[in-house]
This record gives sequence, C-alpha cells and structure tokens, in this order.
Amino acid sequence: MILIIYAHPYPHHSHANKRMIEQVRELDDVEIRSLYHLYPDFNIDVAAEQDALSRADLIVWQHPMQWYSIPPLLKLWIDKVLSHGWAYGHGGKALHGKSLMWAVTTGGGESHFDIGSHPGFDVLAQPLQATALYCGLKWLPPFAMHCTFVCDDETLQAQARHFRQRLIDWQEANHG
Ligand SMILES: Cc1cc2nc3c(=O)[nH]c(=O)nc-3n(C[C@H](O)[C@H](O)[C@H](O)COP(=O)(O)O)c2cc1C
Repeated sequence: MILIIYAHPYPHHSHANKRMIEQVRELDDVEIRSLYHLYPDFNIDVAAEQDALSRADLIVWQHPMQWYSIPPLLKLWIDKVLSHGWAYGHGGKALHGKSLMWAVTTGGGESHFDIGSHPGFDVLAQPLQATALYCGLKWLPPFAMHCTFVCDDETLQAQARHFRQRLIDWQEANHG
C-alpha cells in the first residue's frame, strides 16, 4: 500500500499539488491523508497516523516547499508520529524496511536550486533523508515539480502524470 501524507496549508488554493492528488487518487492501493483537512487544529491523532503507517509499504511526504522546508503541520506530524520506541530507539522498528519518497512542489525553477550561492536541492533534502534513514526507511529519489509559479495548466498536468507514473512504476517493481 502507498500512503501519501499530504500537507498543503491552503489546499483550496493549490494548483500543482491539487493536480498531483487528482492524478493518483484513483490508483489501487493508494491512501491519501490530507493533514490540514484532518487536523485543522493541529491536534494530530498519533495512533491513527501510526496505524496508517503500519499498513504502508511506501510512504510519500507530499507538500509545497515553504521557505526551503516543509509546512509546519508536517513538521509537527514528524515530531509526534515518529515517536521513540515506535519509529526509533529501543524497540522502535515499526518503519524498518518501508520506503519513503519526498514529493515536493516549488515556486522556483530547477536552476534556482543550482545557482551555488545557497544550498542546492540535494542539500535541502538532507534533514528529511536523515530522518528517514534514522527510522530505517529506504530513501527513494525525490519527485520534484519545479517552476509552479509560471507553469501553464498543461505543464502542471504533464508533471502530475509523471508523479502518477512514478507511483505505478513503484507498484509494479514491488508487487508486479
Ligand atoms: C510561505 C511560503 C513559502 C514559500 N517558500 C518557497 C521556497 O522556499 N522555495 C520555493 O521554490 N517556493 C516557495 N514557495 C512557493 C510554493 O512552494 C509554491 O507556491 C507551491 O509549491 C505551489 O504548489 P501549489 O500550487 O500546490 O500551492 C513558498 C510559498 C509560500 C506560501
């Protein structure tokens, strides 16, 4: 099962993430948990989230990039759900052997993350990658949709279809 942990602070204003969600919503064995819908008060149900994670083989963290990082509710989700004795530490093996894919949209173009005057995309991914590896998750190549400020609808749709294909490819490689 693929579990998408979707964290968009303003889902009704989304262009890029909305199209990605539309593309994968109907796939078999895909569950989407939209954190800002589930927890508008930031009161995360840790047991429900851990239950969902236990059922998953691939976990996707999907969100718009905000200040080179993740939205606050996803940070809180990581802090609370990946708990000691469950995700790490003594007896904390619940996520071992599962895979994690970071699926992020950015306003900046790909070259914006490659200009050398500030950390590039691979560096920005490192806290999430380190978190994943610490919890025994396999880190997959991220899916990134860049340039979302200037993309026309056709380009966004095409990229969203690539996201769908990434998930289908993973399903076929792992269950096919
Ligand atoms: C508070 C805030 C911070 C943002 N920070 C960044 C950033 O650091 N880098 C970037 O490329 N885009 C940044 N953006 C742009 C969003 O990533 C972009 O609007 C989003 O990925 C588009 O996806 P959507 O259409 O699903 O909202 C930021 C947007 C907001 C609202």
